[in-house]
Amino acid sequence: MSKTIYHPLVAGLVLALASANGAELPAKLLGANSCASSSCHGGGGAKQNQNLVWSLKDIHSQRPPATLTTARSKQIADALEIKDPTADARCTTCHAPLNSVPENLRGENFKVSEGVSCESCHGPAENWLRAHTRPDWSSADRTAAGMRDLQNLYVRANTCVACHQNVDADILKAGHPELIFELDGQSVAEPKHWSAEKNGNGAQAWLVGQAVALREMSWQLANAKSPTENEINRWTGLVWLIHFNQDKNIGLPVLESDWSASSENFNRIQVWSDELSKSAASLEWTPEITRKLLIQLSQATQKSFSGNDIARRAERLVLALDRLVAALPELKTNAPLQAALNQLFQLAQSIPDFDAKAFAAGLQQFSAALAAQ
Ligand code: HEC
Ligand code: HEC
Ligand code: HEC
Repeated sequence: MSKTIYHPLVAGLVLALASANGAELPAKLLGANSCASSSCHGGGGAKQNQNLVWSLKDIHSQRPPATLTTARSKQIADALEIKDPTADARCTTCHAPLNSVPENLRGENFKVSEGVSCESCHGPAENWLRAHTRPDWSSADRTAAGMRDLQNLYVRANTCVACHQNVDADILKAGHPELIFELDGQSVAEPKHWSAEKNGNGAQAWLVGQAVALREMSWQLANAKSPTENEINRWTGLVWLIHFNQDKNIGLPVLESDWSASSENFNRIQVWSDELSKSAASLEWTPEITRKLLIQLSQATQKSFSGNDIARRAERLVLALDRLVAALPELKTNAPLQAALNQLFQLAQSIPDFDAKAFAAGLQQFSAALAAQ
């Protein structure tokens, strides 16, 4: 834990609330409307349009709960003997997270129908809403009051991964799509209600996100009664990627020795990948690091694609190449490289039909185009 220095004001605020509410009650959620007045985040100007972007463009505001009313959801729910997916916590934790907020934590403007709302990502606002814009509040003050520091890539990855990587095995078996978390690509895909400079470095976001995804998958496997082969292959694919990608000179923790699938390794790698993601988030990132990782990954050969998890390796590898290439603007105009990348995407698309030889050949073209740059 980091030592947080409490601003006297925050301490005062927290104490005042504590005595009003009884000590250690979690904070209330106040609802998007509490953020959306026209002089705050409900304006039309670029710096104040967060509510407009979220409510009109970001699918988090409407689609996740609506999905639970579709025929496909009914099918999944039937297979699990869930009567009403719109009311069952096994579905609403991600699709309608406000459902599970207890009555006593619902503020005046709280609306359960808001889907994945401001406070699902930024944290319950009760203790920071009034003060978070004060010029004398530092970011540590805001964090201490319960506002998540989403500019920190580790904190951001933890926020998104909670809904974007692990689904229980029986829900998957019932027909839920498999989830694959990749922080950078999914951040780019989300319509931005924040300025570009707050996005952070894409390659860094990619690595932090993959390490956090690995931690979550390791945790799931460590706690599974009998992990399925598919789960193990997905995990091994990601461990392989990160292991292959290591460079002792970058200053990140290195995964030594055996990383084969075993309950001991699920536990060990869960701890290790958390350290990796924290270190990666606090690293002073440079384009040279991105380049190093990209070159290293592009040198995976056919030998790297053997075993049951080969298609899973390719799946994670393609996402990696894509985000590392996107982080190096000079590669945008490298047509042969972009063509090779497109081809790799196609080759990695189907898990059952994966052709390791063709994939390795595609990778060689990619590598050659990179070397010629
Ligand atoms: C409380 C759960 C929750 C959190 C937190 C969350 N999401 Fe989502 N997100 C969802 C759900 C559920 C969907 C799927 C909506 C549907 O199709 O019904 C979704 C869909 C998306 C999509 C569009 C579909 C896709 O997968 O490409 C993007 C992009 C996305 N989320 C990015 C993010 C990012 C980036 C973060 C973190 C800053 C984040 N999400 C945090 C629940 C969440
Ligand atoms: C861990 C979070 C999580 C849980 C729990 C969860 N979902 Fe999802 N669900 C998601 C995300 C994220 C997506 C979007 C996947 C994508 O776009 O790649 C999604 C997608 C879906 C889709 C496909 C939407 C489409 O694109 O057509 C359906 C249907 C669905 N979920 C129903 C359910 C049902 C029913 C339950 C409960 C049995 C459930 N989900 C539980 C996170 C979750
Ligand atoms: C899916 C997660 C998610 C949801 C939902 C969400 N945000 Fe954000 N928000 C982010 C991320 C990630 C950032 C970028 C990092 C940062 O600036 O903290 C951000 C940034 C911001 C910023 C800083 C903008 C800047 O450029 O300085 C504001 C203000 C903000 N959000 C307000 C809101 C409001 C208001 C809502 C609801 C109407 C909302 N957010 C909903 C994830 C989310």
